[in-house]
Amino acid sequence: MYPELSGKIALVTGATRGFGRAIALRLAREGADVIVNYRRSMSEAQKVVEEITALGVRGCALRADIGKEESLDKMFEQIRERFGRLDILIANAAFGVPGKLMEATGKYWEVTMASSARSFLNLVQKAVPLMNNSYGRIVSITSDGGQKVIPGYGLMGPAKAALESLTRGLAYELAPKKIIVNASWPVWPTPGQPIPFPGRRR
Ligand SMILES: NC(=O)c1ccc[n+]([C@@H]2O[C@H](COP(=O)([O-])OP(=O)(O)OC[C@H]3O[C@@H](n4cnc5c(N)ncnc54)[C@H](OP(=O)(O)O)[C@@H]3O)[C@@H](O)[C@H]2O)c1
Repeated sequence: MYPELSGKIALVTGATRGFGRAIALRLAREGADVIVNYRRSMSEAQKVVEEITALGVRGCALRADIGKEESLDKMFEQIRERFGRLDILIANAAFGVPGKLMEATGKYWEVTMASSARSFLNLVQKAVPLMNNSYGRIVSITSDGGQKVIPGYGLMGPAKAALESLTRGLAYELAPKKIIVNASWPVWPTPGQPIPFPGRRR
């Protein structure tokens, strides 16, 4: 359905389950090689890689805590060594502490912002030098909570708002390099229907 994705190399963060897994498998079905990032769930990541390689494309699982810059450095070094370049970055992984804002601590702020907002800037800064073949697609995964109040969503709301602002700013800055940056709200598809892929060139 999207032949332009065939042969592309994609990194999906937090691809062991949920939306990340679904996006990784969809990219693989379109013919892209897919790097499955995970933090803790190595066996789940390996299972996703097996599903990816069964589709006839390359896949590998790379561990990195996206909230820690030194961890990202190691992952991108492995991507450079194994694949030599990166065409697609799906910044899907997010982590935050739910609850009331009035009960949020400084530590919750640091962890949530690092994993769900600052991580996007770090990922993009490290991915763009590998997007050197005039094709680059970057998608951040946000949620309604970036713009609306979701009771109990805690600091994830402010983190998603920051993520969306970063996405707009990076889209502007990277446009001259022909790198397209978008944010997407995930929606579970109707059973039997394909998941819409964001960021397609029209
Ligand atoms: N679920 C929803 O209803 C919903 C709605 C709107 C938006 N979203 C957004 O969609 C995205 C995916 O949500 P989901 O519900 O599918 O996620 P999920 O099922 O909770 O899975 C989270 C994934 O992220 C990984 N992860 C978490 N913290 C990480 C870190 N610090 N470094 C690297 N990987 C990390 C986890 O890996 P490990 O298991 O290895 O830790 C796992 O693969 C998120 O950005 C979320 O905000 C979700």
